[in-house]
Amino acid sequence: MNYLWLSALLPVAAQAACPDFLVVAHRGASGHLPEHTLEAYQLAMKMGADFIEPDLVPTRDGVLISRHENDLTHSTNVADLPQFASRKTTKTVDGLAVTGWFAEDFSLAEIKQLRAREPLPELRPQGVAHNDQYQLVTLSEIIAAVRQFERDTGRKVGIYPETKHPTYFRFEGKHLDGTAIALNTSELLLKELRTQRFTDPKRVFIQSFELQNLLELKQQLMPKYRVSLPLVQLLGDTDHAFMPPKDNFSVPYDVWYHQQHNTQLSGLYGEAGRLIAGLKAPLDYSQLLQGQGKTLLQSYATGVGPWKSNLYQKGSVTLKPEFAALTSQFQLHPYTLRDEDNYLQKDKDGKSFSLRFEANALMQQGGQGVFSDYPDLVLAERNEWRQSCEK
Ligand code: G3P
Ligand code: CA
Repeated sequence: MNYLWLSALLPVAAQAACPDFLVVAHRGASGHLPEHTLEAYQLAMKMGADFIEPDLVPTRDGVLISRHENDLTHSTNVADLPQFASRKTTKTVDGLAVTGWFAEDFSLAEIKQLRAREPLPELRPQGVAHNDQYQLVTLSEIIAAVRQFERDTGRKVGIYPETKHPTYFRFEGKHLDGTAIALNTSELLLKELRTQRFTDPKRVFIQSFELQNLLELKQQLMPKYRVSLPLVQLLGDTDHAFMPPKDNFSVPYDVWYHQQHNTQLSGLYGEAGRLIAGLKAPLDYSQLLQGQGKTLLQSYATGVGPWKSNLYQKGSVTLKPEFAALTSQFQLHPYTLRDEDNYLQKDKDGKSFSLRFEANALMQQGGQGVFSDYPDLVLAERNEWRQSCEK
């Protein structure tokens, strides 16, 4: 597939020689196999992904495991296991009520009794076919798999971990027995990377939807552990469609939480606390795209990960100006390219662009990478794009 003609529709700068474009296997090759399993990560590495992406939550005994939600209900068989029936509960996670079984109430040994399931069963029968076959994995096991792949093939793959719900795990959340969780998952992550000596800044990006943990990594934890890794600020919705208290995806939850609790921001955010206090409350993600919000972002983030649903001008794959502007100051790594029709961008007539067409558009408009559940499709497009650049 060749989309060279697309360049006629896109900014002139996009037609220079091909720069780097990273293919990040979102939750592994999660379009093909149940997400966040060793098998999904191994498949992504075999396909040729540059990075694999684990979302991280802690167990009861403080081990980081790879899950998108701390609620295990929809991505494992936990609901079918009678030995864990009494662990079902309702908690408030990032301001919203969630009923299920929670990773922080299971020891790692118990987590190892669970098996992964496809969380999008209607859309992905190919994943359902592998239900209940694969274990849940630790960050440590993922790094070991990356090392093994490197020994087997000579190819270095990176990891792109995301700390999920850092404010919940550190300040707000409780175990089933009512005791505080009180875990700093960013510090756990950094300790693990140090222990495993996986600290090459070309092979790790640390990402989060929250600000406080990234600022703490930048200002305190990375100096303490003598590592320097690029940090990526994920953006939730920038169109103000999911504002608290009804929803939370339009705001960085940490800032919302600490402002609700009248926390002294300078204590937690250092110098950045002053900048945050100067922004309109509640702070929403759109404020990080301009003025003092962008200055704040520049103080700690190497990259920005916008939500694809906010990214394009209506009916097209042309970046909105505020996102195009980011490409000169940050690495732009949008999420998530998925091949199923309801996730694909639509043209003016409501017809879907293909995943590869979207990927090509990002490459041509200065994006430096993308998260995809189908790294194979993005890699195929990148190969053609590179060939076209060499001509
Ligand atoms: O981390 C990039 C992307 O994964 C963010 O969305 O919800 O899939 O973790 P989510
Ligand atoms: Ca993620």
